[in-house]
Amino acid sequence: MNILISTFGILLMGFSPLWAKQVIIPVETSGKSLVLMVGHSGELFHKYYGDRLQTPEDILKDIVADNRRDMTFEAYSTFGKHNPFEVAFKATHADGNMTTDLRYQGHETQKLDNNRVLISISMKDDAYDLHVVLNYLAYQAEDIIESWVVIENRENGEVVLDNFSSFDLVVKEKEYWLSHYYGAWASEMQLEEERIGKGIKIIDSKKGVRTTQSENASFMLSLNHPAEEEDGEVIGGALAWSGNYRLCFQVDSLNQMHITAGMNPYASAYHLKPGDSFETPKFIFSHSSNGKGVISRNFHRWARRYALRDGNTPRPVVLNSWEGAYFDFDEKKIEQMISDAASLGVEIFVLDDGWFGNKYPRNNDKAGLGDWQVNTSKLPKGIGHLVDYAAKENIKFGIWVEPEMVNPKSELAEQHPDWIVSRPHREPILMRQQLLLDLSNPDVQEFVFKTVDDILTENPEIAYVKWDANRHVQNWGSSWLPADRQSHFVIDYTRGLYSVYERLNTKHPDVILQVCSSGGGRVDYGSLPFHHEFWTSDNTDAWSRIYQQWNTSQFYPAIAMASHVSANPNHQTKHVTPLKARFDVSMTGRLGMELQPADMTPEELKYSKKAINTYKRIRHIVHQGDLYRLNSPYRENRAALMYVTPAKDQAIVFGYVTRFHSRNDYMTVKLTGLNPDKTYKVTEINKVDPKKKLFTGSGKTFSGDYLIKRGVQLKIRLLHESAMLEVLEVK
Ligand code: GLA
Repeated sequence: MNILISTFGILLMGFSPLWAKQVIIPVETSGKSLVLMVGHSGELFHKYYGDRLQTPEDILKDIVADNRRDMTFEAYSTFGKHNPFEVAFKATHADGNMTTDLRYQGHETQKLDNNRVLISISMKDDAYDLHVVLNYLAYQAEDIIESWVVIENRENGEVVLDNFSSFDLVVKEKEYWLSHYYGAWASEMQLEEERIGKGIKIIDSKKGVRTTQSENASFMLSLNHPAEEEDGEVIGGALAWSGNYRLCFQVDSLNQMHITAGMNPYASAYHLKPGDSFETPKFIFSHSSNGKGVISRNFHRWARRYALRDGNTPRPVVLNSWEGAYFDFDEKKIEQMISDAASLGVEIFVLDDGWFGNKYPRNNDKAGLGDWQVNTSKLPKGIGHLVDYAAKENIKFGIWVEPEMVNPKSELAEQHPDWIVSRPHREPILMRQQLLLDLSNPDVQEFVFKTVDDILTENPEIAYVKWDANRHVQNWGSSWLPADRQSHFVIDYTRGLYSVYERLNTKHPDVILQVCSSGGGRVDYGSLPFHHEFWTSDNTDAWSRIYQQWNTSQFYPAIAMASHVSANPNHQTKHVTPLKARFDVSMTGRLGMELQPADMTPEELKYSKKAINTYKRIRHIVHQGDLYRLNSPYRENRAALMYVTPAKDQAIVFGYVTRFHSRNDYMTVKLTGLNPDKTYKVTEINKVDPKKKLFTGSGKTFSGDYLIKRGVQLKIRLLHESAMLEVLEVK
């Protein structure tokens, strides 16, 4: 650890305070600067965020020091000061004072390694012994900054935190266009792009668990006009937290936008005893002067390197049993599915819900959840037998669990009613016939850990766990937490969950972990560092997924985005889609299957086997490549995107029709991200009819310059038609 700048405050003790002189604190990545300034008063202000400044200290020559306008640019705004807006922080001191006034104490810069610089700025209330450290971790190559805050109560009495954001930024531009991603079960990640006028816009979750089902904890803010993929100034951010969150955008009367992001303070006042400290989750953000695509690529590169387990390891092709069998299976059926999956070239078979419970067998969603013993009438030879069977078929085995949940009709609910999250004196509200276990309670954390640990310890060959969570908090109440700490529940629950993930990852580092929460209810950077991937949505319809994956890809990388080919008509939407289109869509993420192979025709099986083989050949480009979204399905009746290797020597292009477009109107796709000076061979792949060409130039070579400027013409125009091109450098 290399300390570049020591703590100024200590050096200058006994003299006039350092901040009598103004101090500039630049937080820099290779291409960007976030500039903070300590004012004469010792308060800390935001001065700039954007393309890297060569001379950030010039800011000192052009300031209207500490005037009222500066006050609205506080770097971490607190309640009870000049700022009449939504603030980042509010706490109640033991004497009832609800105000906080933070002053700069010093800062230190640590070079963690060649890519990461951490700047920690120490602040203290000018009248109370309340300390706040503002942290900014700058990732040089990815142009990503993480911000978070550590609050420490050194007062004599208890401090209650009422608002505790991770991030605070003020920008002043002419217009603000916000893109955010709302949803519901089976329709997560729908795009809403809107102009934010004066007033407040809040994106949040109050669900406690399954918090990204109705809104993802991420946004793109385009400045001055709606940004394009490769044009326009954008700030993008995502919160690394799976509990309640709040992203708040307030435009004041001077047209300044105040952005705060962090845990949602809703029903969550947090008490700190003397000596206690509180760390907020991290908020990850990036800036682009060249459109949204840059933000996505920055996040993807950063996530693969820092926020996803084994982000550089290729992901296996999965067949998950859910839509192929639901609860209706026995040993024979699972063996058949394993064998069929293996002969398709699938690499992991995952047994979904329905394999457990004896006194209350899990034959539907009404019973058995919580009783994690194999159901001996369905699977008399146990899980071990299936794992061995899979090994003989040369395929790995994975299993579904939902260990945070319980059906009232279960042995677990009979034995541990006190472990269930419930509202005292009130009837429990059921959702999907189930209730939530109280993960703020260490005994429950131990149970959840042991549930998964036992399965993996008894069956060390299990290669994959799908971890589900199918309800959210409604029965607010913990029998573990004392009466005056009930408001700690969601925060302690989420921290409890993370500690279980952590222990399991340490003990079983080689097991692939998928996060699922009724589909995409936990797609966030709080849970992702513990996982290899997420189940994007229970909606497996290729047409719907074009849109959902388009939006998911704004922040989350393809390698983590599980995308499965399912049956016709689709079980959720009843859409009928060609098998090729289903593969062409699923191949833009982590490819899998979600069907009963025994129901497929010999032609379908043959095509699937070939497609899976193709995917294995090209998956490194999708998993590790840079994503360029080319034709937006929100603009046209079609969509196209491509992945390009960092060396720009290989690329895969995907094109889809989302609605019929006019006769003779071919789809023009201008390729991006290639090297104009290289020559590429472009070949159509994943074809159904080897003689039919959807790209007439298939097999020919083109200059990168031509492919970028003129693009390719795809002969697809009917609904659900699609094409896939492989672009390889010719040396
Ligand atoms: C959730 C998941 C599905 C499946 C079912 C099983 O809905 O999202 O993929 O695992 O639970 O009950």
